[in-house]
Amino acid sequence: RAMDLRKIKATPDDFGLMTYDPAFLNTSSCRSAITYIDGDAGILRYRGYPIEELAEKCSFLEVSWLLLNGELPNPNELSEWTGLIKRHTMLHETTKKFLEGYRYDAHPMGMLISTIAALSTVYPEAKNVFDADNRKLQIARLIAKMPTICAYCYRHHFGLPYVYPDNDLNFTENFMNMMWKMFEPKYLANPILSRALDILFILHADHEQNCSTNTMRCVGSAQGDPYVGCSAAAAALYGPLHGGANEEVLKMLDQIGSKDRVAGFIHQVKEGGGKLMGFGHRVYKNYDPRARIIKWAAEQVFTVTGYNKKIEIALELERIALEDDYFVKRKLYPNVDFYSGIIYEAMGFRPDLFTVLFAIPRVVGWLAQWQEMLLDPEQKIARPRQIYTGHGERHVVPMADRH
Ligand code: ACO
Repeated sequence: RAMDLRKIKATPDDFGLMTYDPAFLNTSSCRSAITYIDGDAGILRYRGYPIEELAEKCSFLEVSWLLLNGELPNPNELSEWTGLIKRHTMLHETTKKFLEGYRYDAHPMGMLISTIAALSTVYPEAKNVFDADNRKLQIARLIAKMPTICAYCYRHHFGLPYVYPDNDLNFTENFMNMMWKMFEPKYLANPILSRALDILFILHADHEQNCSTNTMRCVGSAQGDPYVGCSAAAAALYGPLHGGANEEVLKMLDQIGSKDRVAGFIHQVKEGGGKLMGFGHRVYKNYDPRARIIKWAAEQVFTVTGYNKKIEIALELERIALEDDYFVKRKLYPNVDFYSGIIYEAMGFRPDLFTVLFAIPRVVGWLAQWQEMLLDPEQKIARPRQIYTGHGERHVVPMADRH
């Protein structure tokens, strides 16, 4: 146990054994029964089920239940869960007003991060984190409201009236209707596209102790409510090395511009001119299994939307990189973000929404991990130590004597 390491002391006044592990490369911060990854073999499982099987046979809401509760839902449980989510899709009118206050060109991730935090003020009872019924209600609220917030952020940019949730539609159809409905009747999503989005949501739902989930656990360990925790986790996701990478991939493909310029671009990356966005992963040192499924989903989407130039550039980039010694030696393969942005763009989502589209499903993983942490008697407030490298003791020189 971690506490026992402290007892290993060179002298009685010694602190005890302490590890120095920048960026936690070799530190397990918790025990978890939610997601299993074997990065060398390219394996990802939620609660023991291979991600490929879940993507093929389940819906996003089924998988959400699985991540939160440990087992797949039976028909009654799924129907109750779906009903609960549908009941909580609306935003309080004051939250709607809050969203209206942003500049028209505010980045949707900035809007999302602060709106999730603002929900903490709307549901003050959420701070009773050890009350199981209350926790279940707040979890459902957060999962249900994420698509509504996202769609409102999008419509705000164009000055379009917000579209209220439509509970006759399923989770992704409702989201697409809130995004793109113009006039009556409602926007009816092509079933291939709404299913592809559902699959993308399944793939993004959890990924063990990634940067944003670690943030959720860290903030949650101080026993704040789940809204402030998810807001902090979303802030971590915003960064270009994490969830922001899918937006960066699209910028990179735009910058490359055509298939024949790919080799030159890769050469430039190898010479130190930046990174190949959407490549590499802290844990996967093999093909990211999610990228394989996304590539398959992209083919389905393109049968509806038609092919675009970016997919050709992406395929060429992958082909050249996977044969290049630089990338092979460093075990750099496409990650989940490499193809997801291309699909989102083909479906009609603007690039600045890509990270928000990542956050909608990942909120499930954050909440499942948060709940697991709260119920784990071994967890305490997250508080790493440091190796101090600053000055020894010194004293303040009066202002007149400082030069
Ligand atoms: N392109 C070119 N070279 C790369 C890339 C890349 N995408 N990623 C890593 N490398 C190189 C590094 O420069 C380093 O080379 P060196 O050994 O010569 O110094 C080596 O590969 C190891 O890389 P690290 O940065 O040490 O790997 P780390 O595990 O810390 O980083 C990360 C992982 C952040 C994902 C990194 O690969 C990266 O920045 N990728 C691009 C951004 C991206 O796609 N992020 C999405 C990740 S998936 C997600 O969050 C959902």
